[in-house]
Amino acid sequence: MKLAVAGKGGSGKTTIAGTLARTFARAGRTVLAIDGDGNPNLGPTIGIPKERFDAGTPIPHDILEHREHDGEVTVELALPLDEVVDRYALEAADGIRLLTMARPERAGGG
Ligand SMILES: Nc1ncnc2c1ncn2[C@@H]1O[C@H](COP(=O)(O)OP(=O)(O)OP(=O)(O)O)[C@@H](O)[C@H]1O
Ligand SMILES: [Mg+2]
Repeated sequence: MKLAVAGKGGSGKTTIAGTLARTFARAGRTVLAIDGDGNPNLGPTIGIPKERFDAGTPIPHDILEHREHDGEVTVELALPLDEVVDRYALEAADGIRLLTMARPERAGGG
């Protein structure tokens, strides 16, 4: 099952996403959380201390391949997902693993 949480700024996306991740993990599901926000802050909501979250490595752009097919652009991983998770995921509470898509140097705290 894949779930995406999107919506207006400040409407509770991160709170809902973190709560869903922890609820499913505690129910015994394997959970991979992906923070796609340009100013990521999902980590602390799933139990990763801010210092460890800030020290984590976002997915580097060179493992994302942009492909165009019949005018439709898709972005795919150049490596198997398991390998990306092994290299870049942070361990969070309840066995959740977290991938972060961006880490702007000068973004503010969330
Ligand atoms: N159901 C709720 N009731 C009251 N406050 C809430 C609720 N859900 C979230 N909040 C609070 O609202 C604020 C924004 O929540 P959150 O950061 O989850 O939103 P967001 O949509 O991820 O924001 P952003 O667009 O900045 O990423 C936070 O201070 C959060 O604690
Ligand atoms: Mg958010």
